Amino acid sequence: MKLSSPKTIAALLALAVAGAFSAHAADKKVVVGFSQIGAESGWRSANTDSIKSEAAKRGIDLKFADAQQKQENQIKALRSFIAQNVDVIAFSPVVETGWEPVMKEIKKAGIPVILSDRAVKVTDPSLYVTFIGSDFVEEGRRAGNWLAKATGGKAVIAELVGTPGSAPAIDRKKGFEEAISKFPGMKIVKSQSGDFTRAKGKEVMESFLKSPDAKEITALFAHNDDMALGAIQALEEAGVKPGKDMQIVSIDGIKSAFEAMAAGKLNCTVECNPLIGPQLFDAVNAVLAGKTLPKRTAVQEGVYEQSQAAAELPNRKY
Ligand code: AHR
Repeated sequence: MKLSSPKTIAALLALAVAGAFSAHAADKKVVVGFSQIGAESGWRSANTDSIKSEAAKRGIDLKFADAQQKQENQIKALRSFIAQNVDVIAFSPVVETGWEPVMKEIKKAGIPVILSDRAVKVTDPSLYVTFIGSDFVEEGRRAGNWLAKATGGKAVIAELVGTPGSAPAIDRKKGFEEAISKFPGMKIVKSQSGDFTRAKGKEVMESFLKSPDAKEITALFAHNDDMALGAIQALEEAGVKPGKDMQIVSIDGIKSAFEAMAAGKLNCTVECNPLIGPQLFDAVNAVLAGKTLPKRTAVQEGVYEQSQAAAELPNRKY
């Protein structure tokens, strides 16, 4: 081959240009926009840490926005991710409905969407690629089944509900009610939202305790551990022994819940695993590689009661 021939020079040039482009493509960081709900609970903080640390580990440029539990802030963040032309958008929707318009804008911009932790209600399922999260109905069922077993099917129940309109609040209620419906001796007499926070859980429990029929309550179902921990404080301040005078079951499985169980104040926690950063970024990579993902990926979870708390405590990662 003559190195100076015009054909050879053109071929070498083409190779050099292609090489420069592929080096740039390899160097270019993947950019992911993530809209988080807020920092309302221990679970949420663990979820945020898992996402941020996994992105850092993989060298992903993560644009992270905290919505402070407001849907309008999430919608603003999603629009700003479109404007920044990120490679993938992921978000944990605070409530189930009201996403269709902004998700249509994202689709029009050609950006794939991954739902993390909570699902949305949309008429067009092509608006998102996949949903990675827990089966909240099953978590509610597990809480109900545990309480039925622990109380022999007899309980006058107060319920601390999560954020109104959110998938975990709707689904956990549904699963719990389904489980206890098989036991005529179990009934929910009080039900109010504590917005998934410790402060609100305490406040609502205080108001339950002030009602004339408060003495009849024998059990508490809290949609998350933080609300249960707030309620435990309210009970102790009112001279009621949590975990003894009142059976308490909640959901999440955070470290402080295990500590409360080890201290005999909480009876059971149903696990909801927040450490989904690795699964999320595996999905991001798969989407960018053009792979087809299952519409839904569930997370493996367990149920823990007081007798297991001390042994399990050192193993808890969140
Ligand atoms: O969506 C998951 C729920 O949201 C967790 O149970 C709760 O603690 C969080 O705020």
